[in-house]
Amino acid sequence: MQPTSIAGIILAAGKGTRMKSELPKGLHRMCGIPMVEHVARAMKAAGIERPIIVIGHGGELIQDALGDAYDYVWQREQLGTGHAALMASPVLAGHNGPVIIAAGDTPMLQASTFEGLIQAHTASHALVTLSSAVIADPKGYGRIVRGPNGDPVKIVEDKDCNPDEKLIDEINVALYCFDCPTLLRILPTLSNSNAQGEYYLTDVIDSVQKEGGKLTAKVFDDPDVIVGVNDRWQLALAAKEMNRRILKKHAVNGVTLMDIDSISVGIDVEIGGDTVLEAGTILVGKTKIGSACVIGPNTKIENSTVGNETSVVSSYIDQAIVGNKVWIGPYAHLRPKANIGDKAKIGNFVEVKNSTFGVGAKANHLAYIGDATVGSEANLGAGTITCNYDGYNKSRTQIGEKAFVGSNSTLVAPITIGDGAFVAAGSVITEDVPSDGGAFGRARQVTKEGWAASRRGAIKSANH
Ligand code: UD1
Ligand code: CA
Repeated sequence: MQPTSIAGIILAAGKGTRMKSELPKGLHRMCGIPMVEHVARAMKAAGIERPIIVIGHGGELIQDALGDAYDYVWQREQLGTGHAALMASPVLAGHNGPVIIAAGDTPMLQASTFEGLIQAHTASHALVTLSSAVIADPKGYGRIVRGPNGDPVKIVEDKDCNPDEKLIDEINVALYCFDCPTLLRILPTLSNSNAQGEYYLTDVIDSVQKEGGKLTAKVFDDPDVIVGVNDRWQLALAAKEMNRRILKKHAVNGVTLMDIDSISVGIDVEIGGDTVLEAGTILVGKTKIGSACVIGPNTKIENSTVGNETSVVSSYIDQAIVGNKVWIGPYAHLRPKANIGDKAKIGNFVEVKNSTFGVGAKANHLAYIGDATVGSEANLGAGTITCNYDGYNKSRTQIGEKAFVGSNSTLVAPITIGDGAFVAAGSVITEDVPSDGGAFGRARQVTKEGWAASRRGAIKSANH
């Protein structure tokens, strides 16, 4: 670390008891990525090259999820936020610049929040710049106590507040900028004689004040940005707000949103201009949607790529690739490795898995196409089923260009239907069909004149 650059620490070792979860709190997801990753990304975006994340409870899981873009420090026993910061001291030794400390459970922080804090810290020449906000319901947060001259003098945790302090509505955001040597000097001196028996990072403020060091507070006036998540209701509220933030970004970039309350879009989703998202559209993970598409209503697309001018109606698409000017749905299911070519059509109640559809190929109704290659402009009739699994092995079906598979045909893989071939409706195909050939894999029909009338007569006389 450069001695004068800005260092960043994120505290994420706590269990998050109030989440009532097996998962460490920081790993609970919002809009596609863990809460703690939102904080880490915002820090990086503000120019802090390698944020240091303090991990403890479920630490390996956090490391696995966030990967090597960050540095990690262990806090084996969770003895409080002051103790957590102390664990990062060895990494900060020799660092003379400012160090920012944020909590892993304040996921709404943005790069601009960190930039605002850094500016305030630089301008005031303070040893500590803390972040505060005035909110309607301060319950649960640490309160900022200000002295006679208006400067902050200490932070009192909710559980340690006297009745007067409980009334203070200026709260500690748990986002600070410290002069690093001052922080490292004071951290080992903190005591844990408080309501929770923890070493509070907030007590550094009190110590600096008592030494006569300069303290200042940056007051943030956007309560949505500073919200802390301690339970799943707060998580749900924060996720809703984060989703609105993401939707707004896409709307401003030219995406039409038909119902912002029922559309949800993950943070890493890309959407082209003039695309319309209808009500109930859920876009997840690394999904990429082209321009001038109509997606929804009631559609979920996960980790998939969709081209331009494509429509997806009431369908589920997972790890698939869909081309340009494709029609999907309603009620289609594209499973992993479905690859649908331009101008193809996948209609209602069609399931496609690990299969490629060529340009303009069609399966308009009620089909299962698995482990198949479908040539361009081939037409698969209603009820076409690829029998790709014999109970032991998966086998492939090859369907040539412009082939026609009649309704309710069963294609028993491995099998090849040649280019331009014709499969009669109701066939069970167990042998390859050559190009331009016809295959009739069904029982021959027997028609008997007067048969139904004589049956009726026989039944009537038996009932007398
Ligand atoms: C903290 C602040 C409080 C502030 C609030 C804002 C303290 C003492 N209190 O309270 O003033 O208003 O955030 O949201 O700092 N952590 C560790 N190791 C520990 C304990 C906690 O890494 O031993 C981490 C947690 O994982 C969490 C963060 O520190 O990400 C904050 O801890 P939490 O217990 O949620 O503190 P709050 O009670 O919310
Ligand atoms: Ca918290």
